[in-house]
Amino acid sequence: MKILRTVEELNKLTNLENYKSSSIGFVPTMGALHQGHSSLITKSKSENQIVICSIFVNPTQFNKPEDLENYPRTEEKDITILEDLGCDYLFMPSIDEIYDNYIFPEIDLKELELVMEGKFRPGHFKGVCQVVYRLFDLIKPTKAYFGLKDFQQVAVIKFMTKHFLFPIEIIACQTIREESGLAMSSRNLRLSEAEKKDSLIIFNTLQFIKENLENFDSIKTLKDKAINYFHKGNLTLEYLEIVDQNTLTQSNEKVKKNLVVCIAAYCNKIRLIDNMILS
Ligand code: PAF
Repeated sequence: MKILRTVEELNKLTNLENYKSSSIGFVPTMGALHQGHSSLITKSKSENQIVICSIFVNPTQFNKPEDLENYPRTEEKDITILEDLGCDYLFMPSIDEIYDNYIFPEIDLKELELVMEGKFRPGHFKGVCQVVYRLFDLIKPTKAYFGLKDFQQVAVIKFMTKHFLFPIEIIACQTIREESGLAMSSRNLRLSEAEKKDSLIIFNTLQFIKENLENFDSIKTLKDKAINYFHKGNLTLEYLEIVDQNTLTQSNEKVKKNLVVCIAAYCNKIRLIDNMILS
């Protein structure tokens, strides 16, 4: 695997005739790779001639400085994982390479920015859009792969790709879970074994909702019961929303089609998110 650290090195690659005529699968990450990321690389390898991964802990998408500071960084291990998976290129730029002297186009994300992650992490999706725009513009992939654990992020990226007319197919890939049900996340590295056990209340609540979808006559009652269920555990709930999968807005009380439940919660200082498609 070839490691590229500058835009100049990357441009040299993307200007090659062989690159331009190949299908390019791109997996953007912030490092601290786990099996969720590995599954994206593997899928990308099965569908493209060239696979390129990026590792860049993007400062503009963190709305709390301590969260950025504490974000796990495991560079050497990440490189080994990518080499073992047969990734062709790794782009690992500095902050200056991405942000210096670059003017980002504005985008109005509308409702997507006002609900759930957008509401509780102001500016987060603007930061995600900036870095993904820049990476798409530089790497020019055929397909880009994202995990559905960040359900709202996938919706935002699809919206942005369409808005700026990038000729890129966005591939949304299933959440990979530990055997216990806990969704794989780079942030899990910061959880103790006891905290991991406590965090299972998220998955259990998602399942409670899925199993009880038909047992309550309104979404509001189901949501209230699910919040009570969640509070039996030790985590602090930030939000639990049952929304339409496409609009991410609260669904009609009686309509139980096309729903997803999304949860964000704190296990002590560590913020975790997860979701489950209901119907
Ligand atoms: O999902 C992530 O790891 C990040 O939000 C992404 C898409 C790599 C942008 O920094």
